[in-house]
Amino acid sequence: MNITVTHKLAKRLIEANGEAVSGQHLADEFGISRTAIWKHIKELEEKGYTIESVKKKGYRIVSVPDTLEPLAIQTGLKTKRIGQKIDYIESCPSTQIIAHQLAQEGTPDGTVVLTEAQTAGRGRMARKWDSAAGKGVWMSIILRPDVVPQKAPQFTLVTAVAVVRAIEEVTKLQPKIKWPNDILLNGKKCTGILTELQSDADGIQALIIGIGLNINQEKEDFDPEVRDIATSLKMESGEMASRQKLVQSLLYYMEIYTQMYIEEGFGMLKILWESYSTTIGQPVRARMTNQTLEGIAEGITDDGVLQLRTADGKLHGIYSADIEM
Ligand code: BTN
Repeated sequence: MNITVTHKLAKRLIEANGEAVSGQHLADEFGISRTAIWKHIKELEEKGYTIESVKKKGYRIVSVPDTLEPLAIQTGLKTKRIGQKIDYIESCPSTQIIAHQLAQEGTPDGTVVLTEAQTAGRGRMARKWDSAAGKGVWMSIILRPDVVPQKAPQFTLVTAVAVVRAIEEVTKLQPKIKWPNDILLNGKKCTGILTELQSDADGIQALIIGIGLNINQEKEDFDPEVRDIATSLKMESGEMASRQKLVQSLLYYMEIYTQMYIEEGFGMLKILWESYSTTIGQPVRARMTNQTLEGIAEGITDDGVLQLRTADGKLHGIYSADIEM
């Protein structure tokens, strides 16, 4: 079965906006027989599409499955750059590994890697990332910005703002950002961001921004050791959320905000980040590899460094740490 024709057919029916399209019309348009069209319709049904066969009128699409396949994501995607190329795989160890490989092979700026399940999802500080099959969004975005490597942490902050905006747009939830880039709902983590870098003497070759978004998991879907600190959009809102809509919205805000960053710098985005931050102004404990500091988180610098004032009045710049509040 030719997968391209099947995909094109799905796109054609989706774009008909719920109107029926006749089998003969489709056959003429695609230059194949009506029986071949019927076989492609059956294949779409096997993939989870609901298609109604309306007497004397033809085929009408009723619902599409909530998969992360490129066709589903790209139909209705409002971006020009991010997500124009999507590398989709049903299951993989980690989308970061695939993205690194693609970046080395020269894949264009804005390429997105998406999977339904990760068998070795990784988080910050070499931690494991729970990636239940079909319940969240496990994705890596490859960017090739013309900036010096020291600016890379700002992209993680920009990504955090894009994630918050997407969750706000698709659900009724009000997420917060915990420095540097954990997204929280009612104090529990629903999204993690992992930014990795490919650079050489000429500067950044690629930024690989990994995003793990917990969407439709139940408590039991998480490993026992993270059950008390992790959450999903469904656990907080009581409603299933569309993974497709979340990816489309997230890619849209990533495009808007990375463009804003490149054209206007970090100023406006820093204000946005701070408006969503749950860390700034709060007493926190910052656990680093060689020491732990307690104090008030006063703000972030233009480079995304956390400013922590300890009881002795000293201001410390924290580049990387686990924050407890
Ligand atoms: C963290 O909070 O520690 C970051 C978690 C990042 C998880 C995502 S899921 C998609 C991408 N692939 C990975 O293996 N990790 C990132």
